[in-house]
This record gives sequence, structure tokens and C-alpha cells, in this order.
Amino acid sequence: MDARKIIIAVDGYSSTGKSTFARTAAAKLGYLHLDSGALYRSVTLKGMESGAVSKECIDAGKLSELLGSLDITFGKTADGEFHTFINGADSESMIRSLKVSSCVSQVAELPFVRGFVDRILQGYGAGKGIVMDGRDIGTTVFPNAELKIFMTADKRTRALRRMKEMETSGGKIPFEEILANIEQRDYIDAHRKTSPLSKAPDAIVLDNSDMTLEQEIEWLGNILKDRFGICI
Ligand code: CDP
Repeated sequence: MDARKIIIAVDGYSSTGKSTFARTAAAKLGYLHLDSGALYRSVTLKGMESGAVSKECIDAGKLSELLGSLDITFGKTADGEFHTFINGADSESMIRSLKVSSCVSQVAELPFVRGFVDRILQGYGAGKGIVMDGRDIGTTVFPNAELKIFMTADKRTRALRRMKEMETSGGKIPFEEILANIEQRDYIDAHRKTSPLSKAPDAIVLDNSDMTLEQEIEWLGNILKDRFGICI
């Protein structure tokens, strides 16, 4: 593997498999993987638990106060998986629930929440050698990232993938409900005022509707080799 370290920004729509792609790429490269959505999900979960966030409304003052007491970290579990820890507690499965998904895009619209998350993300990026996935990594968090990828896939394919993912972790949610949540989040993410989801002009589009993870990594490997002389 090449010693050269770059920042790879992976942005795109909900449930396009950004995190799986980013995690696999990071492991192959010996890079750090950061899932920025996990931070927005963590803020949302804690906001819901404290009563600052509900489907109907958000108490911005209360949520802003809460941020000061949040310590969000990523760490390995006993079985070697990377999970999100909030104030020391493994919160991975809770942040992935449909309940959190149904409020997270509304929370992620708030500029003070985005500022809070951006500061954490930018702190990690200082050392390079990182793959970060989200909605605005290539446009706002790391506009100078050496490689920017914008992931997209057919909506129904995405909903089906998410449904299967939830089934493996024990949750059975109707397909139409998952599809509706994906459509709603895509709309809010693309239309918000602060850092909306959009393709950076220099991002490369990856439509993975008909691709396997192996094919995606092969695609990435070719780009890394051609552009940066990095082999994975
Ligand atoms: O896993 P999925 O692609 O469905 O979503 P996620 O990456 O876990 O992100 C959850 C939500 O956080 C998104 O729907 C966005 O509303 C928000 N988000 C954001 O606004 N900016 C980011 N950089 C990452 C996530």
C-alpha cells in the first residue's frame, strides 16, 4: 500500500451504501473511516430522549444546551465492529432506528447542530488518511478533499437494501414506510438552507444501483491508482 495519505469525501443520498463503501475502502487503505451521519443521529437520539426533539417540534434552546454535555466517540466492540458511543454508552443500534431516522433530517437542518458536528469532523481530518461519508463532506466539511465521490442509486433499490439491513438487526418495517422515509430525508437534505446535499462540481458520480460492493471497490481502486498512484 502507498504511504501517501489523502482525504476521500463520500457524499450522496440516503441509504446508497455510503458507509459500507467508505468503511471497506478505509479498511483496505489503512485509513480512518468516519460516518458523519452517526453524529447527526446521535444528537437526534439524545434530543428525543431529553424531550427537546419530537416529530412535531424541536426546542432549539434545549437542544443547543444539550450539545454541551454530549461526548460522541467511535470505538471497537468486543466482536471487532466499530460502533458509536454517546457519553461512553454503545448507542449504535438506537441511532439506526426508524424513529431516529424520522427526525434526523429536521435536526440536521439547524445551523448550530451543523456547526457542532463540523467541528468534530474537521478535528479528525487534520491528519489526512481518512474516508468520511455524509451529505456535505466534499462541499462544506472538506472542500479541499483530494477525492470526492457522489453516490446515488435507484430509490426502490435503496429502500430494499435498508429493509434487509434492518431485518438482519431484528427489525421488521414495511417497505413503503422505509421508502417514504428515504424520500422525505432526500427532500429535506437537498432543500435545506445550510449545506444542502449537492454534488460538488469536482465530485465523481458513482451510481451503484446494479453494482456489488466488490465492483465499487474495484472502481475506486482504479481511480486511486490512476490519479494518485495509490494501490489498494
Ligand atoms: O444511512 P443514511 O444514508 O440513511 O443516513 P446517514 O448518513 O446516517 O445520515 C442521517 C441523516 O443525517 C441524513 O438523512 C441527513 O439529514 C443528515 N446528515 C447531514 O445532514 N449531513 C451529513 N454530512 C451527514 C448526515
